[in-house]
Amino acid sequence: MSKTYTLITGASAGIGKATAEALAKDGRNLILVARRMEKLEEIKKGIEATHNVDVRIFDVDVSDIDQVTAFFTSINGYSIDALVNNAGLARGRTTLEEAKWEDIEEMLATNVKGFLRVAQLCIPFLKQTKGHIVNLSSIAGLEAYEGGNVYCGTKAFVKMLSRNLRIDLHGTGVRVTDIAPGLVETDFSLTRFRGDAPRAKAVYEGVKALKPEDIAACIAFALRQPPHVNIDSMLVMPTAQATVTRIAKA
Ligand SMILES: NC(=O)c1ccc[n+]([C@@H]2O[C@H](COP(=O)([O-])OP(=O)(O)OC[C@H]3O[C@@H](n4cnc5c(N)ncnc54)[C@H](OP(=O)(O)O)[C@@H]3O)[C@@H](O)[C@H]2O)c1
Repeated sequence: MSKTYTLITGASAGIGKATAEALAKDGRNLILVARRMEKLEEIKKGIEATHNVDVRIFDVDVSDIDQVTAFFTSINGYSIDALVNNAGLARGRTTLEEAKWEDIEEMLATNVKGFLRVAQLCIPFLKQTKGHIVNLSSIAGLEAYEGGNVYCGTKAFVKMLSRNLRIDLHGTGVRVTDIAPGLVETDFSLTRFRGDAPRAKAVYEGVKALKPEDIAACIAFALRQPPHVNIDSMLVMPTAQATVTRIAKA
């Protein structure tokens, strides 16, 4: 019998990387996608050395629709039982008036268009396996905050698409789960502030933020449920964070 794979986008760091490790522990073969191949090589090596699973890695920029399309053509014939649609980013934290247009375009191209094209092209694979889509939205898709504008909008899009996919895929056996994390300590803020390490570090200073492994455990839990159970959505916050901005600092 041919192997079945779980596809994770944005698997080179943070939540995607931790999810790859958690799902490998559950015995899942993996297709990992990101732009930094050297990171994916390292992750593949580590997982294959410790778990009896097969890991395939692909250099895909999800914000480039032609690359996404070519990638799905290249994996034609693979059996895919789950998609973790995770690749995403924020850029800047200004008012809309002050935001750089290229930052806005990058967020839309990655979090909305790329995310959408990955979902669209993965659906035929998932219908064949009665598979599962896990989308990474955010508390930012539920609450507005200062400087959140476009990023919040992209994550609200993800949340609404998850709900619509439940309707689209009704009767196919394909499940859809939306995972909305609060503050998770990853490279997210470093990317948001374009490598400004002190500014990124300050976001997590004195806060017991979530670890990427905490979110990976929730994703693995949703994927482990029997076929008649669909975890629709999970909002997962650090205990110290009551709302996006109401954070208890030590
Ligand atoms: N950290 C948080 O507090 C938090 C909270 C709520 C939701 N989220 C969401 O969780 C997801 C993962 O974020 P994270 O915190 O794990 O951030 P991260 O550590 O910065 O990881 C982001 C991942 O996305 C990939 N990525 C970004 N742009 C890409 C592109 N154009 N093409 C392919 N891959 C791309 C990166 O890989 P390459 O750079 O190698 O391509 C990397 O693997 C995002 O959707 C984010 O919005 C994060």
